[in-house]
Amino acid sequence: MSIKILILYYSRTGNTEKMAEAVAEGASTVDGVKVLIKSVREARLQDLLEADGIVIGSPTYYGTIAGPLKEFLDQTVKYHGSLEGKVGGAFASCGAKGGGAETAVLDIIKIMLIHGMIVQGNPEEHHYGVISIGPPDEETLNACKELGRRVAVLAKKLKSTS
Ligand SMILES: Cc1cc2nc3c(=O)[nH]c(=O)nc-3n(C[C@H](O)[C@H](O)[C@H](O)COP(=O)(O)O)c2cc1C
Repeated sequence: MSIKILILYYSRTGNTEKMAEAVAEGASTVDGVKVLIKSVREARLQDLLEADGIVIGSPTYYGTIAGPLKEFLDQTVKYHGSLEGKVGGAFASCGAKGGGAETAVLDIIKIMLIHGMIVQGNPEEHHYGVISIGPPDEETLNACKELGRRVAVLAKKLKSTS
């Protein structure tokens, strides 16, 4: 059984991209998982349809997700209903403490829930998804790896029972 995990992100100055790479690294530690990492510039809607798990990351722009990511995600209305049951996770980068990364993460999660996706939370830390203030430090990168791993494990579990 092959499980596909898509890491989709937007990044202008590289902080979110570093987080995306760590999420991908964590997901790829799970046996049988194939990871696809794409920026919104490279991604196609088909990538979402083909994935079993989708982890989305954005810089925080005025407390929410960046415009190019929103524009891409708005196009998914064409496939509304087709993402139901896929596993989701989110991460965001911001510039300042209390800068709104958590609200950006929650905005990604809202989109996932509207699509009928199943969102992996974390009872230990970074409960809603991983956030970073500025460039991600080692602790944050480890949390990103853990996010990727947890989404992949859940996607694998769900696929094996379907
Ligand atoms: C248009 C714009 C709006 C921003 N708004 C916020 C904000 O509301 N809160 C915040 O903490 N940082 C804000 N930032 C800073 C970015 O979120 C931050 O630099 C982030 O780490 C950039 O991610 P990237 O390197 O992946 O592009 C903003 C930056 C830009 C360009």
